[in-house]
Amino acid sequence: MTAGLSVTNLKLNRSGRVILDIDAFNLNSGEVLAVVGPNGAGKSSLLQILAFLIEPDTGIIRLDNEIIGNGNRLAARRKLAIVFQEALLLDTTVQKNIEIPLRIRGVSRQESVARSTEWMTRLGITRLARQRARSLSGGEAQRTSIARALAMQPEILMMDEPFAALDYPTRKSLLVELGNILRASGMTTLFVTHDFSEIPYLTDQVAVLYNGRLIKRGRVLDILGESAVSVKSWAPWDDL
Ligand SMILES: Nc1ncnc2c1ncn2[C@@H]1O[C@H](COP(=O)(O)OP(=O)(O)OP(=O)(O)O)[C@@H](O)[C@H]1O
Ligand SMILES: [Mg+2]
Repeated sequence: MTAGLSVTNLKLNRSGRVILDIDAFNLNSGEVLAVVGPNGAGKSSLLQILAFLIEPDTGIIRLDNEIIGNGNRLAARRKLAIVFQEALLLDTTVQKNIEIPLRIRGVSRQESVARSTEWMTRLGITRLARQRARSLSGGEAQRTSIARALAMQPEILMMDEPFAALDYPTRKSLLVELGNILRASGMTTLFVTHDFSEIPYLTDQVAVLYNGRLIKRGRVLDILGESAVSVKSWAPWDDL
């Protein structure tokens, strides 16, 4: 079972403004949760706090019920993999982009090759293995970034608007494939988006952020009501 994550009494202020003010937020073990909200709602800030990339002004974060602080933050960070809107790849081949982080984490050469081979296959990028990252299209780069994250076998996968820069057909096929992968793996996942229509591909669990506050948390259909029906009307399971 992969890990769960929670935070209580979370406050983040910047330049005298309240950016986040959340009493309690939790990502349950094995859950795929979409965090949705308009531009500036605080989604990326929340993800970065939960990924231990920035420190909030107040807040107690627990990973698998263990409070994370100075002594164990690095170990906690290593249990996570993050996919950002921009792929942030190294200037080397696709295959090396997947293998190098594994080698840094102490995974053997043989195992790294096995994992990169598997995840390139699952993300449909095997033919790009020897291509340099800077020559990839946006969609190919994001597939590489997702393959790299999943090859790490993280306890929690975090994604911040990973599809925002992609055109509609590319976005849709990646959403369908990623949805299948996440359902099969049971990986705990936090997925940030401002686009409601992406959510049903990956999950039915949603948290709504607005002005730095968590205003709703639950099932998509319960929360979005009628508007979810129109989202659902072109969700992948309608084709079944
Ligand atoms: N270092 C900072 N100094 C001042 N304001 C900041 C800082 N970091 C973030 N903010 C503000 O915090 C708010 C939330 O930003 P954040 O990036 O978390 O929003 P978001 O929901 O991810 O938005 P988007 O959909 O545009 O990505 C914004 O109004 C932003 O301007
Ligand atoms: Mg953001």
